Amino acid sequence: KEIFLKDYNKPNYYFNTVDLTFSLGEEHTIVSSNITVYPRIEGSSSSPPLVLDGVDLKLVSVKIDGKELQEEDYQQDARHLTISSPPSTARFTVEIVTEIYPQKNTSLEGLYISSGNFVTQCEAEGFRKITYYQDRPDIMAKYTCRVEGDKTLYPVLLSNGNLVEQGDLEGGKHYAVWEDPHKKPCYLFALVAGDLQSRDGSFVTRSGRKVALRIWTPAEDLPKTVHAMYSLKAAMKWDEDVFGLEYDLDLFNIVAVPDFNMGAMENKSLNIFNSVLVLASPETATDVNYAQILGVIGHEYFHNWTGNRVTCRDWFQLSLKEGLTVFRDHEFSSDMGSRAVQRIKDVSYLREYQFPEDAGPIAHPVRPHSYIKMDNFYTLTVYEKGAEVVRMYKTLLGSQGFRRGMDLYFKRHDGQAVTCEDFYAAMRDANNVDFANFLLWYSQAGTPTVKVTSFYNSEAKTYSLKFSQEVPPTPGQAVKEPMLIPVAVGLLDSNGKDMPLTSVYHDEMLQEVSTDGQPANTTVLLIKKKEEEFLFSEISERPVPSLLRGYSAPIRLDSDLTDSDLFFLLAHDSDEFNRWEAGQVLARNLMLSLVADFQQNKPLALKADFVHGVRSILSDDSLDKEFIAKAIDLPGEGEIMDMMDIADPDAVHAVRSFIRKHLASELKAEFLKTVENNRSSDPYIFDHSNMSRRALKNIALSYLATLEDAQITELALNEYRTATNMTDQFAALTALVQNPGETRDEVLADFYSKWEHDFLVVNKWFGLQAMSDIPGNVENLRKLLQHPAFDLRNPNKVRSLIGRFPNSPVNFHAKDGSGYKFMGEMVLQVDKLNPQGASRLMSAFSRWKHYDETRQALAKAQLEMILSTNGISENVFEIASKSLAA
Ligand code: ARG
Ligand code: ZN
Repeated sequence: KEIFLKDYNKPNYYFNTVDLTFSLGEEHTIVSSNITVYPRIEGSSSSPPLVLDGVDLKLVSVKIDGKELQEEDYQQDARHLTISSPPSTARFTVEIVTEIYPQKNTSLEGLYISSGNFVTQCEAEGFRKITYYQDRPDIMAKYTCRVEGDKTLYPVLLSNGNLVEQGDLEGGKHYAVWEDPHKKPCYLFALVAGDLQSRDGSFVTRSGRKVALRIWTPAEDLPKTVHAMYSLKAAMKWDEDVFGLEYDLDLFNIVAVPDFNMGAMENKSLNIFNSVLVLASPETATDVNYAQILGVIGHEYFHNWTGNRVTCRDWFQLSLKEGLTVFRDHEFSSDMGSRAVQRIKDVSYLREYQFPEDAGPIAHPVRPHSYIKMDNFYTLTVYEKGAEVVRMYKTLLGSQGFRRGMDLYFKRHDGQAVTCEDFYAAMRDANNVDFANFLLWYSQAGTPTVKVTSFYNSEAKTYSLKFSQEVPPTPGQAVKEPMLIPVAVGLLDSNGKDMPLTSVYHDEMLQEVSTDGQPANTTVLLIKKKEEEFLFSEISERPVPSLLRGYSAPIRLDSDLTDSDLFFLLAHDSDEFNRWEAGQVLARNLMLSLVADFQQNKPLALKADFVHGVRSILSDDSLDKEFIAKAIDLPGEGEIMDMMDIADPDAVHAVRSFIRKHLASELKAEFLKTVENNRSSDPYIFDHSNMSRRALKNIALSYLATLEDAQITELALNEYRTATNMTDQFAALTALVQNPGETRDEVLADFYSKWEHDFLVVNKWFGLQAMSDIPGNVENLRKLLQHPAFDLRNPNKVRSLIGRFPNSPVNFHAKDGSGYKFMGEMVLQVDKLNPQGASRLMSAFSRWKHYDETRQALAKAQLEMILSTNGISENVFEIASKSLAA
């Protein structure tokens, strides 16, 4: 059933308190809930029915005000329990007892078992798999939770809030009672029971509250929680320093579990994490893992205010909490590392993954208009584009204005379930500004294209920038309106220095140059209409414009900059993001033109100025090493295909490989020197300078390995053998396995035998093979499905071995259809166990219409095969049917 934003109705009943009791058993768990209910409109003569959600539950009993209901007093269907005529009193109690079967729950939502421990996942609509409830976020109540279970099997019993009582029970059981003083929606409820141990820490908030911090894992994993604890403390401090937000309880728990559908979950004071986002040691985790842990621990912690204290009225508002919290975790990571590099990572990710989503059949606005299964809308658009929308408020208002808006948001809405308009209104009212058509960012799907043309008038000494914007049609939205787009701009003089910007004319009017929160000599131009022109006066020479500094809006920019302008920006722009971007634009243009050559069977050739540009970046000692690593990395194949009318995976792959190999041979000496100079046998340290050094060394190694020469293979093998941390070891392995052959097989086997006892490392090994571009790799993957370490029920393994396969476009889009067929089969197999996991795999098909006719027919056949299979989940149905319809 499709649900629409426009159909939102307030609930007829609110819940005040909820007292839960769990009697835990792997086969049967009994859940009793005691809810105090009050009607939204008091004193009406006839009371509306009370409709409760519930899925896969066995109802044992229902009582109202202590009296057991008879069968005629309620109706039950597969999804609801409806109490036809509840009392018309100002307050009444509902007591419900249900039975559930955690052992059988492979969907990993509701209450399930992971490695012998009980865990819950309730967002978005998993609470209804625990008990009958109004499972919607605008029902906020105070909870207590009593957990009873076997003392030996489950020595640790956790839920939200404070532990208020615990003790022993008969028959080897024990219990714990938890009380959460803060009102919350049921999606933030959590329970964990198991044989876990904790790393303990503490944090004193700036107002003096002493908070106990505990990170729970199986005993053997405890040594790997040092970085997570560091990250948590850093996040708590950062939120106080930057947003003035403090933690609000005396205890904060994090639990790591191996079977988890997503990254992590912000349950009030009991965050539950996918192990891969908690556990790290230098020997087993890479720099990328360390950075992700920092970011996600921050993300979930930041939800305590943006998500939990202020939550969403309904699920259409998801970006209210997710876009905002992703923005906050990006800012946190920037402040902990390098701001420019963080921005580069975030923008690359947006372009590589969110842009295609926004251009395909499941394109939807940041605030979707409808859904069948909410879990399908935890998307890159809601998260990443949503974060960009929040960033635009900051760009428009400056840091201080943005902070004023945040303060007002919390002042107005603490303890409430609100909407994206409420956030917008807080930003507007705190700053007394008119945001014109900014709200359209929430309702219009599709990535806007902004075209810029420039003109320098040497007599009048004026420089004009003419913008035009176009938001493309998307499914269900044929016609779009212009939106408010902030474009941060600087102008470079012939020495490469920023010109001072004093006055800008717009619509014949002198406009204030707003620089609040912007670096000096950067101004933010506001594009509000379809076409706009801005005129800078007193410009003494033709400048080179640096446009969209810091990527100030999530758009595609189409400018009239020449290659020589771009090389100039690459060498001089004071905005580091735009320096990188200039190189990327050059690389994208080059790749697209070589793709055209390849398609016309012309020989491929690389221009000398491109090689020269890469060489000068590589050998510029004044640059940050991580920045260099990013700047010499070519745009991904996905990003290039996204820019083509008909995506051609073979051509794009051939071209990207050609350029890499050509650069490697031209710059072999430089790359060798880079490897040499950036080696270190010092103990692993996670900090910017060491990570940068490793990143630069490892990208140089990966270029060199494309040469397939014996001397380089020796070098890479040596790096592999002597590595003292996983970052370096895995980078060497990755470099070596690019090329088919004996060495590849040997080193893969060696790596497995070294790490077979560590499931997170084994997942890297699966993932590396899944993404491989070696011809006909799908057959290897079919073999690996039978590998003893593989398990279709574990989402991380599925993600590694199956989910990463489309990262090799040549293999996934193989012309014989073998890749599509493999994925189609996998979707159906996973769907029987875990619909959310299956639906996520479906995204591989989402842009099937973007390929040639042969491929379209092959992909379509798989989509039709999936859709015509009996018993597919709503999750998979929604994506498959929308993909075919568009
Ligand atoms: N709120 C979680 C986070 O972003 C994600 C939960 C996703 N749940 C789901 N069923 N899709 O931190
Ligand atoms: Zn989140």
